[in-house]
Amino acid sequence: MDKDLINEIKRHVNIVDVIGEVVSLTKTGRNFLGLCPFHGEKTPSFNVVEDKQFYHCFGCGKSGDVFKFIEDYRDLSFLDSVAVVAEKAGIQIAQPQQAERRQEVSPHQPLYDIHKAAADFYHTVLMTTKLGEKARHYLYERGLSDDMIKHFQIGLAPNEANYLYQALSQQFDEQTLLNSALFNPSENQMIYDAFQNRIMFPLADEYGRIVAFSGRIWTAEASANTQQAKYKNSRASLIFNKSYELYHLDQAKASIKKHHEVYIMEGFMDVVAAYRAGVENAVASMGTALTPEHVKHLSRFTQKVVLVYDGDKAGQAATAKALEELRDFVVEIVRLPDQMDPDEFIIKNSEEALAEFLAKQRLSPVEFLLYYLKPDNLDNLQAQIAFVEQMAPVIAQTPSITAQNTYIHKLAELLPDFDYNQVEATVNQVRVHQRQEFVQESRRPQGKQITEMPFLRQVSPLQRAENQLFNRMVHHAYILNDYRQKEEFQFISPELQTLYQSLSQQGEITSVELSQMDESVQQAWYMAMEEDLPEEVATDELYQIERTRQRELLKRDNRQTAQRIREQANAGDELAALEELNRLIALKRNME
Ligand code: UTP
Ligand code: MN
Repeated sequence: MDKDLINEIKRHVNIVDVIGEVVSLTKTGRNFLGLCPFHGEKTPSFNVVEDKQFYHCFGCGKSGDVFKFIEDYRDLSFLDSVAVVAEKAGIQIAQPQQAERRQEVSPHQPLYDIHKAAADFYHTVLMTTKLGEKARHYLYERGLSDDMIKHFQIGLAPNEANYLYQALSQQFDEQTLLNSALFNPSENQMIYDAFQNRIMFPLADEYGRIVAFSGRIWTAEASANTQQAKYKNSRASLIFNKSYELYHLDQAKASIKKHHEVYIMEGFMDVVAAYRAGVENAVASMGTALTPEHVKHLSRFTQKVVLVYDGDKAGQAATAKALEELRDFVVEIVRLPDQMDPDEFIIKNSEEALAEFLAKQRLSPVEFLLYYLKPDNLDNLQAQIAFVEQMAPVIAQTPSITAQNTYIHKLAELLPDFDYNQVEATVNQVRVHQRQEFVQESRRPQGKQITEMPFLRQVSPLQRAENQLFNRMVHHAYILNDYRQKEEFQFISPELQTLYQSLSQQGEITSVELSQMDESVQQAWYMAMEEDLPEEVATDELYQIERTRQRELLKRDNRQTAQRIREQANAGDELAALEELNRLIALKRNME
């Protein structure tokens, strides 16, 4: 690929936006800070430097530019990552390469294609047929506009045995038709559409590729028939794993990034209701409880979840369960009144009221559990004790001590036979216990962590001087030229020397070239680029750098010589030791 084009692509995106899509970033001074996506951490040490357009993690040492980030984050080749960034930049890159890439990225392209074709088919049926008109009226009555029908790509499966099959069977091969989960073969050799007379909600993966459908019954007859499930989902297929996919994630992504949080709701119509209220960062799990896979999927986009499950018993139980899965997230809970779901809340109140309720009426997990776990029979001492024992660990885990005290207070207030001190004593017991566990945990050997953090070590004065020198060479051609004249010049750091050789041969190092170098060389590049030097080169700056370099070099020589003297003296080789000593004296003189 042309290197000018690659530079052009890089110039058209801001690394803060690209990384911000998947890591919640907070502005701190001139940089942006977040939790590193490459190693598990609880306190942020992942730095995105906007004016230099690269990132660096002080925890694990990973660093790079926008291409490197996509490469590592999505596990792609350099060229694939350029293609991804190009798409974000809105820059067209050569067609054959793109086709090739798709092939490489997805062996299931025909399955995505057939889902797209089916979604178009269903949408057309909804928008243009007589039956579609009736179905649209059902949707209008539920508060949807044509714009929203379009946004959610809603459709209608016709009330026929196999219209979809007839429409698609010529365009797709047998294997694709069979694997799509859109059709059911029967004993009499007939093939039936899997969905008939249902309002169709397409489900897309995070990249917007449709991977499945959910169909809702909508006619009075079907609703009266208790045999029919209200919603029917596509069965699992090569491209659809319902424990992983979240409804509307593809469209919610940008808003999740912007607001640094995601709403999780129960149903499709709840996500639609939120959208009506102007809340775009809502997703739903497809009628299943939140799974660990859902949670892992979401963790790539945000660290904060707002749970908005139905206000009924089942919804509240689902909330308590989800809280367990979401241990590593910041969680808030919106508890809707009168057993309503967000869709019903809008009908009863208004779009504005829902928006306001979602934004303002939030409970912490402890507040939610205080309400949820509260026994019906509070006069019973046993029930009170059990309640305190359930709550104590949850309270003890709250990071803020002030908040802990408030919760202890609230809990004590609910209980006729407990006062503040008694509840506090129970919480303290748990605290002590948790601390002991923590100490044991931290005593375990953590070899792996240490090897993962080579960059935590201090940069030595020598490294710093060389980093600064290299940084200046990259940005000031005249400095590079000066050094090119000095034939004997070498960086002491082998990585910088490798970079310097490339640089002096070509005058620049492009992203492509860098991406092909050893990982350690790439790291050295970013370490050097990270040096915060003033725009202007000071008159004696290079002289000072050079002096530091020389002094540090001599010091190192000193240490090595002294070491040799000791070894030789120990081995009884007095003469050799004396010779080295003379060398050392000469060196010291030199330094002065
Ligand atoms: P609900 O029964 O709460 O439906 O199921 P809802 O969201 O309020 O839907 P409307 O308002 O009646 O249209 C919540 C979610 O559970 C799944 C669906 O994803 C639904 O949105 N579900 C429900 C099924 O998968 N199958 C069903 O038969 C019912
Ligand atoms: Mn509903």
